[in-house]
Formats: sequence, structure tokens, C-alpha cells
Amino acid sequence: MRTPLIAANWKMYKTTGEAAQYGRELLEELAARRVSVTAGEQGQPGQVAVVVCPPFTALAALGSALRGSPVALGAQNMHWESSGAYTGEIAAPMLLDLGCRYVILGHSERRQMGETDEQVRRKVQAAAAAGLIPIVCVGERIEERRAGQTESVVTRQVRAAFQNLDAAAAGRAVIAYEPVWAIGTGEHASPEEANRVIRLIRDTVADMLGSETAAAVRILYGGSVKPDNIGPFMAQPEIDGALVGGASLDAKAFADIIQQAEVNAA
Ligand code: 13P
Repeated sequence: MRTPLIAANWKMYKTTGEAAQYGRELLEELAARRVSVTAGEQGQPGQVAVVVCPPFTALAALGSALRGSPVALGAQNMHWESSGAYTGEIAAPMLLDLGCRYVILGHSERRQMGETDEQVRRKVQAAAAAGLIPIVCVGERIEERRAGQTESVVTRQVRAAFQNLDAAAAGRAVIAYEPVWAIGTGEHASPEEANRVIRLIRDTVADMLGSETAAAVRILYGGSVKPDNIGPFMAQPEIDGALVGGASLDAKAFADIIQQAEVNAA
């Protein structure tokens, strides 16, 4: 049984003050709803895991606000080298130093700016080696979908990202299937369609690393997830949670999404 994971990707939003306030509010909202959040990756039946990924500049402030709580901290990107002359970049040891457990890698908004499969592979490997849990984003663009290339694109991205990863590291990793056309558009994949692609992703991992690893890896859906549509996604057998953009910026809405995932995990 995989414990559901609900992840917030704030993208380029919120200052330090806003992040601290959000952290306090999220903990209050979760307590008011009596949601049982596990501090580890694998919780008891009925529990849910939660991670919030703010911009680098708000990691310390949000980390302080969440300290002592089971809500984990994550970053949105990192460099593959652990230090060096890389102006403007951030390394895995720096993220660990700020208390990060997770790091989003290969988000389509970064791929759109030129990040390649090869760079994503290096980052995933570096994150795993440093002890960070990568949340690897994959997903097809609208023109690829129209051309019937969803399967080949997603399979290529998963194979590239997991190449050279050992089974233990891969089993701890998270994959987020985010169809690019569903991000920030209000348009989402149907839960059945997302489940089908996620099944294909799990089969790809099984083919590369064996069925035990494939059964352990958590695979999320992302793309216009809101409190009113999370339920049917969580009801699908292959979908282990959600990577939430816009709706995660509001602590109440994000707590609503977490609560619904928890209800589904019970
Ligand atoms: P939205 O939830 O705003 O569609 O964003 C999804 C996303 O990109 C999360 O990484």
C-alpha cells in the first residue's frame, strides 16, 4: 500500500512573510480538519504525506513555520553538481541544509526554457545520491497529444530520468504525470486517462527496474487539480496523489485537497 502524497508547487509566488503566514495557516487548517499527516514517506493506512515546495527564497521562512510538523519541505529545482562555479544555481547540500526532503525536477515550465532529458537525468541522480527525494515531472505537450505521441513522450522522459538509478533510489522517488496542456489552464485530463498513462509509467519502471520497484514508486497526477476535482483522481487505482500548482497557493484550498486525499486513503 502506497501512502498518498499531496505536493504543492508554488512556482514563482510568495515572499518570505507570505510563506511564514501560509505555513501557520496550513497547519491550523489541517488541525481543524483533523487530517492525519505522516512525517515519513510511508504512513499508516488512512494517513497522507504532504510536501510544500516554495521558491528558494522562501524555504527558510516556510521551514521555520513548519518545524516540528509532519508537513515536509521541498524545492522546485537544483543543479546536478554539489558545488562549483555555477552562478545563480543551487545545489543539493544547500537544500538539505534548509531542511528540504523533496525536490521537483524536470517540470515542464523548466523544460520549456531548455532543460533537457539529459539534464533532468543528472539532477535526478544527484538528488538521489544526496538523499533528496526527486519528484520527476513528465508529460506531453498539446501538439504531441494531438499527434498520438503521449505514450512515446512520457516513456522517453521516464526512461531518461531513471537511467542509471538503482532500484532502492528509484523506489523512493516520485513521478508526477503532468500533461502540459492541463497546467494552469483549468482543463484537466480525465481521471481514467490519467490513470491509463500512470499505469504505463509504472510498467515502464517495472521494465527498467523490476516490479517491486514499480510497486513502490509513487506516481502523482498534476494539472488543474482543485478541491472539487481531486476526489475522482484519488479514486483511481494507479494514482498516488497530486502535484498542485495554482490551488496550492491558498492554504484553505490546499488543506481541502489534502483532506480529500486522506478520506480516500482511509
Ligand atoms: P496547476 O495546478 O496550476 O495547473 O499547475 C500544475 C503544476 O504545474 C504543478 O507542478
